Amino acid sequence: VLERKIRKNGSEILKFAEFLKLEEKKILLNCIASSKKFFLFFGLFLSLFAVVSLIVGYKLLVYSLQTLENEIRNILYGNSKEISVPSEFRHFVETFRKTYFTFLETEKLSSLGKLLFSIAHEINNPLSNISTTIEILKNEDIDNEFRKELFNDLENEVERTKNIVHSVLDFCKVKEKTYLNLKKCIEDTVKLMKGYIPNKISVKIEIPENIKIFGNKSQIQQIFVNLIKNAIEAIKDEGEIQIKAVTENGKVKIMVKDTGEGIAPQNLSKIFEPFFSTREKSGYGIGLFVVYNLVKEHEGNIYVESRLKEGTTFYIEFPLIERSGVDGKV
Ligand SMILES: Nc1ncnc2c1ncn2[C@@H]1O[C@H](COP(=O)(O)OP(=O)(O)OP(=O)(O)O)[C@@H](O)[C@H]1O
Ligand SMILES: [Mg+2]
Repeated sequence: VLERKIRKNGSEILKFAEFLKLEEKKILLNCIASSKKFFLFFGLFLSLFAVVSLIVGYKLLVYSLQTLENEIRNILYGNSKEISVPSEFRHFVETFRKTYFTFLETEKLSSLGKLLFSIAHEINNPLSNISTTIEILKNEDIDNEFRKELFNDLENEVERTKNIVHSVLDFCKVKEKTYLNLKKCIEDTVKLMKGYIPNKISVKIEIPENIKIFGNKSQIQQIFVNLIKNAIEAIKDEGEIQIKAVTENGKVKIMVKDTGEGIAPQNLSKIFEPFFSTREKSGYGIGLFVVYNLVKEHEGNIYVESRLKEGTTFYIEFPLIERSGVDGKV
């Protein structure tokens, strides 16, 4: 009897141990499952945090770069308003300001030096022709016909010298600026040039109505007169001149496009230099030099794209900024 009792209790204890083992296993599996969930949520939270930090960091960086860009634009356009750039950029802005003003001074001096040299050089040519002609005229043996021809040459050379001096004097004058309606300004310029534009050349103007720029009307018109004249000279027979304008990023971009002979690649870097011309007898090489300087005088930029035998496009950009305290005629 005792043995049977012991066996029965023994098997109950075994069952109970089995039950305990299963329960322990269950608890262990639950533990593993919940710690898996914990790590999953923790990982998700970490990734979310990283994404949010990246977005916030990116926005802050973009904002800082925008304030830096605005400050640099203020320096370039001479606005006195200061923008509070982040302290990390202060040193950079100060160095930029100093370098830019030193650069402007040296550029002014060197372009003035270049201009003086070119004027002296350019005036020297007609002057030496004049003195040679006078030497020949001193000779009493020359016939009347030849004498007439020499006087004609003298007149032409004096005229050439006068033109060079006048274009420089006119260019150096400081002129008053007002707000101008770009479309009207360009339409008036084309009207002024009507007699000069051959019938075989069509001029198309596509400029939005309400673009205002700040400048001197006769100087702005001078820019387009010179560009249109060049385009006409480049179109040997039939062709088209297109003048378009678009606004983008606080600027107006004006395109003057022609279907003319184009500019040879080796000349592209020289065309804005004073007295560079490929039109041997008919050009002084002053037109684009004046255009370049007038564009700079109006805080603008000019660049050119050209393909031989296909045509040329000049791009001019002017800033579209409101000047506080300036009254302007439009
Ligand atoms: N639209 C154009 N198409 C082709 N070549 C051009 C064009 N505009 C300018 N050029 C080239 O650039 C040179 C310089 O032009 P720029 O207007 O300064 O002088 P120019 O026309 O020769 O003389 P000026 O304008 O003083 O009478 C020209 O001689 C010509 O070779
Ligand atoms: Mg010209």
